[in-house]
Amino acid sequence: MSKKISDGLEDVVAAATVLSEVDGQAGRLIIRGHSLDELAGRIAYEDLARLLWTGFFGDLPGDFGPALGAARVQVFEEVSALDTGLLALSPIEAMRALTARLADGDSLDVAFRLMAAPAVFTAAVVRGQAGEAPVRPDPTLSHAADILRMIKGRAPTEAEATALDTYLVTVSDHGLNASTFAARVVASTRAGLASATLAGISALKGPLHGGAPGPIIDMLDGIGAPENARAWIEDALARGDRLMGFGHRVYRVRDPRADALKKAVRRLGDGSNVLPGRLAFAEAVEQAALAILKERKPDRTLDTNVEFYTALLLEALAFPPSAFTCVFAMGRVAGWIAHAREQLAGGRLIRPQSRYIGPLPKVAA
Ligand code: SDX
Repeated sequence: MSKKISDGLEDVVAAATVLSEVDGQAGRLIIRGHSLDELAGRIAYEDLARLLWTGFFGDLPGDFGPALGAARVQVFEEVSALDTGLLALSPIEAMRALTARLADGDSLDVAFRLMAAPAVFTAAVVRGQAGEAPVRPDPTLSHAADILRMIKGRAPTEAEATALDTYLVTVSDHGLNASTFAARVVASTRAGLASATLAGISALKGPLHGGAPGPIIDMLDGIGAPENARAWIEDALARGDRLMGFGHRVYRVRDPRADALKKAVRRLGDGSNVLPGRLAFAEAVEQAALAILKERKPDRTLDTNVEFYTALLLEALAFPPSAFTCVFAMGRVAGWIAHAREQLAGGRLIRPQSRYIGPLPKVAA
């Protein structure tokens, strides 16, 4: 009796992990035994990364700050390879290409360089595409503060650094999402942490996954005012478009990260890049989208996912929408590396079966 194929591996449990649990019914995210609201806005990204990596690398430095700062300076040397060809690519393609120049391996040094890479390379690419010279990392700053400084060319405010740190923590790990699963598959062949990270970056790029936040700004700008929301959304759905920022494979209720990030936007508040009334407008669009999705798909809960308020927060921090997925990678890379090491520690080569439905040879061999 042939086994049933699970479309998109939905409901397939492919690994046991100590890293994170996504409870889709309860709308709860646990990372290494802590609920999201114990972490978001309360722990620095460096400390969250140490929490994720504990147990997977032997002895770890008590404070990740200096090692991560040194790694930013080390990978910055690769920025000299940023040529007109790479600058003609999208930010995530150029960041991926520069990351591919890093030596592979499984050591903690390799891991720190990979955690630094999306931040340093994205900043250099965004500035290069704006015709500005790259800014050398400052290893004495926190990761979030240095990211903003390398992008903006000036020291961020404390509120800006806190808002970005909250984002990086919030998106750092999330069960066996597509990019993390891709990283685990590659890690399971013992290809190395750089190869696993590149697989994660490539999977994250897709609009059904980490590529969603940028188009959300396009949607908000396309709608323009709350009274246009229903018509715009109905036209989009009539075209067969997906509303970016809504729906999730696991969450059957509101993604808990949505409100964590909405709170971060509120805390950042005016005085940042947030246009007055932008949050209220986005909330009106969100309510219209939720109402229409409920009307259209009464049998399928399509609630707000992490990306909707990610877009508002990264816009408020003045990241270009084309680089939003790169910022997602800056946070998620700590999770990809932890999962890669967990896969290496106890897992086997990941190699599922398939059912052949193609033609058979004419003559039986
Ligand atoms: C992330 O897995 C993770 O944990 C991912 C993530 C993480 O932290 O790593 O949480 C990050 O990727 C969040 C999701 C970001 N993507 C988007 O916002 C893109 C828009 N959302 C969708 O495309 C969709 O909701 C998915 C891809 C996220 C999940 O889709 P599923 O579980 O594969 O469900 P499906 O595509 O089979 O859709 C079921 C039905 C379909 O209708 P029918 O064809 O059956 O009539 O729901 C509809 C879909 O058309 N639907 C949507 C929709 N999402 C699902 N319709 C309109 N807009 C949407 N957003």
